[in-house]
Amino acid sequence: MKIPPVKGTRDFYPPDMARRNWIIDGWKRVSVRNGFEEYDGPIFEYLKMFQIKSGDEIVEQLFSLTDRGGRELALRPEITPTLARMVNQQINSLPRPIKWFSVPRLFRAERPQKGRLREFFQWNIDIIGVDDVLADAETIFCALDYLQEVGLTPNDIVVKISSREMLAALLQSIGIAEGELEDLYVVLDKRSRLPGDTFEQMLAEKVPDENKRKKILGLMAVESIEQISDCLELNETARESVDELKRLFGLLEVMGVADFCMFDISTVRGLAYYTGIVYEIYDRGGELRAIGGGGRYDNLLRQFGGPAIPATGFGIGDSVLAILLEEKGLLEKQLPSRKLDYFVVCVDEVYRETAVKLTMKLRSAGFAANFSYKAAKLSKQLKQASEQNAGRCVIIGSEIENDQLIVKNMATGKQELIKLDKFFAELKS
Ligand code: HAM
Repeated sequence: MKIPPVKGTRDFYPPDMARRNWIIDGWKRVSVRNGFEEYDGPIFEYLKMFQIKSGDEIVEQLFSLTDRGGRELALRPEITPTLARMVNQQINSLPRPIKWFSVPRLFRAERPQKGRLREFFQWNIDIIGVDDVLADAETIFCALDYLQEVGLTPNDIVVKISSREMLAALLQSIGIAEGELEDLYVVLDKRSRLPGDTFEQMLAEKVPDENKRKKILGLMAVESIEQISDCLELNETARESVDELKRLFGLLEVMGVADFCMFDISTVRGLAYYTGIVYEIYDRGGELRAIGGGGRYDNLLRQFGGPAIPATGFGIGDSVLAILLEEKGLLEKQLPSRKLDYFVVCVDEVYRETAVKLTMKLRSAGFAANFSYKAAKLSKQLKQASEQNAGRCVIIGSEIENDQLIVKNMATGKQELIKLDKFFAELKS
C-alpha cells in the first residue's frame, strides 16, 4: 500500500523545493535590506500560550498533544505569541526598537482549500518598541518591497487598511459595549467571505437591536476616510485614529507605495490581539484568500506578562502567494534552474578511479560536480550531463594515459583536448 501525505500537508519534491526556497530566500533578502534580524522559536509550545490572546478561531484550529510528562502542548499556528514570549524574556537587555523577522513553519487544522493548508510557511515582520504610525507604514512598505520585487503591480494586489481603534470608537458611539467588541470583530472580519444574508444573520445574533445593526451596516458601507464623519459624529478617540490613518496614507505616499493601498473599513482581522492599524493584502481580482495580513498589537506583550510595549507587524503565507504568482506567470520564469559546473564522463571502467578522483578534486575546489556511475555510451552520459544542466563536461578516455582529458563546453558544443596540469592550473585561476 502506498501511503499518501496527511490531508492539508505537502511533499516538496526537488522542483517544489526550488519554488519554496526561491520564495523564502526573497523574504529573507527583503527583510535584511529593510533592517530586520532573523529569529525563530520552537515548533511546539505550551497549549495555553495560544489560548491567551489569539482568539477562538485559531484555538479551534490548534493541533494539540499531550507529552509523556502530561504537559499540554500545541504545534504553533502562528509565531506572534512566541515572539511576545521571547521578547519578554530578555526585555531588559534587548536594544530597542526591535526589528525582527522569521519564516516559521506553521500548523492550523483548517478545512484545506485553495490557498489554505494545514501546514504552511509564513513570513513574519515585526517592529517592537515604536508607537509611531511610521512603524506601521514601514511594515507595509516592507511587504510591498518584496511583492514588487517578484513582479506584482498595483493592478495585481491591494493592501486594504483600517484601524481597529477607530472602529472600536465608532462602534461604541453606536452603543456597542467595549466587552462586546471582540466577538463583533470576528463576525465583521468574515463579511467579505460570506454571502450577504449569512453575514446579516450572524450579525443579528451578536447585535439583536435592529437600529444598531443598521448603523453598523451603514458604517461598513463607508468608502473613504472622509465619509466616516458624514455617517457618524466622531468622538475624540475616533478623530485621533482617523488622523492617524490619514498620516499613515501620507507616509505610504512618501514611501512610493500609495498606489497599492486603499482604506477599507471592513478590514478588521481575525486575530483578537490587534489594537490599532490593521491591514490585509489581497489579489485585486478578489478571487483568492488573503495573501497576508497584520497590524498593531500594543497590548500583547503585557498580556504575556511583560511591560506595556507597542508592537506592529504582519504575516504573509507561501501558499496564496505561490498561486497568485503562478496565475500571473511570474513564478516559473524567475526560478533559478539547477546548475552543475562540471559533469565527469568516464568512457571506460578502467578510468573509474581517475574519474572519481577528479570529481572529488573539483568539488573540493568549490565546483558543483557530478559523475556518471556507469561507463555507459558517451552519448548517454552527455545526455545525463545536459539533463543536470552542466556547464562543462570533462571526458576521461584513453587520452588520460598521456595525462590529457577532453573538456566540452555544453553551451557551445566546443571540445578541447587539455593537459591535466593545465586543467588544474586553470581551475585555480
Ligand atoms: P493571519 O492573518 O492569521 O495572521 O495569517 C497571515 C497569513 O498567513 C494569511 O494571510 C495567509 O497568507 C497565511 N495563512 C494563514 N493561515 C493559513 C493556512 N491555513 N494555510 C496557508 N496559509 C495561511 C497571523 O498569523 C499573524 N500572527 C500575523 C502577524 C504578525 N501579525 C502581527 N505580526
